[in-house]
Amino acid sequence: MNAPRLEVDLSKVADNARSLVARLAGRGIAVTGVTKAVLGAPELGRVLFDAGVQVLGDSRIENLERLRHAAIPARLALLRSPMLSQLDRVVRTADISFNTEPAVIAGLSDAARDRARNHGVVLMVELGDLREGLLPADLPDAVRATLRLPNLSLEGLGTNLACRSGVVPDAAKMAELSALVAAIETTFGIRLPLVSGGNSANLGWALGHAPVGRINDLRLGESLLLGLDPLDRSPIDGLHTDAITLVAEVIESKVKPSVPWGRTAQTAFGSVEVATDRGLVAQCLLAIGEQDVDPLGLLPPPGTRIVGASSDHLVVISDEPLPVGAELRFFPNYSALLRAMTSPFVATTFIETTRGKTPRLAAPVRQSVPASELAGGGTTDCRADAATGAGPRRAARGGAVGP
Ligand SMILES: Cc1ncc(COP(=O)(O)O)c(C=O)c1O
Repeated sequence: MNAPRLEVDLSKVADNARSLVARLAGRGIAVTGVTKAVLGAPELGRVLFDAGVQVLGDSRIENLERLRHAAIPARLALLRSPMLSQLDRVVRTADISFNTEPAVIAGLSDAARDRARNHGVVLMVELGDLREGLLPADLPDAVRATLRLPNLSLEGLGTNLACRSGVVPDAAKMAELSALVAAIETTFGIRLPLVSGGNSANLGWALGHAPVGRINDLRLGESLLLGLDPLDRSPIDGLHTDAITLVAEVIESKVKPSVPWGRTAQTAFGSVEVATDRGLVAQCLLAIGEQDVDPLGLLPPPGTRIVGASSDHLVVISDEPLPVGAELRFFPNYSALLRAMTSPFVATTFIETTRGKTPRLAAPVRQSVPASELAGGGTTDCRADAATGAGPRRAARGGAVGP
């Protein structure tokens, strides 16, 4: 089979989606399924819709266009504030978009009028994470302006936490959002149908016992795909954490010293390499690199360790020598998944294995590969877990090492 490749087990993602949809429904909360980590793959969108997810959300209009062309009957939501240069595409494809800028909202109204459509607007509120959002004091003006504009309907309010700054979406933050909803409704004499409380990091709060207040929607990506709680990357009870794996192929296998020799300076990615002396080691090169994946976000199979990476190579040492042509299977974190899915050199394969079987729970074990052992690295996505690699995952998870 083609390598490198991402294998997405749709039956496990479907299990995760059914489980979260049912558990959150008990709290009066619907799920918006976030598809950006799979680039809006229609296969995934269909599975989520069939599992009871009625809105699909993505930060990129291109991904929503893929879903729209596949005629999946879900509502489509653009989660990142629309670019002024893309407003016509946004109103053509997205039913709703999440907004913070008056100029963009006015432009959406014009674009929707030109297309003789109605477009739904969710106003995002800043509650402390310091990424997107209107400051609460500016909310009434934004509501007033949106209500006055033709071809727009104000769908509701939303917030996003635990992304840029790691601010926890706890009961206090959610109560703050509910209070803002109530204040806006009273001031303007309207009812806001949608209150989108956040992302997968909200699940601890949402599945607990605190009152949900007015929150009736969560936008879930990482939890559906990887089964992990972004607050600490611990496995979420009852979800599969092994739905997505990354397979890469060995292209060189040698016994080599573990420490470089000669004068050393910066590596290809500008870091200074500090190698640990382990004597002679079985080292192999895999045909995948920084261009394709965030190496810091990969959990390698048992008996192997990632010790370096450059643009096109991942350097791995193993307890036993591996033959050229062998495939190694890694568990990617969200950051590694995003980059691998976006690389044109990594294929994506959708599989179905265990529909309906109860997932085994993952033991919370932290990956022990120190970041300093990796060449380069670093990552920019809000879901990155750069310091700790793939985060807590099952140690004996059985990533196969074999041809
Ligand atoms: C605005 C917004 N909502 C929701 C999500 C989904 O977050 P998560 O993958 O933690 O569920 C993201 C990020 O992907 C986002 O940017």
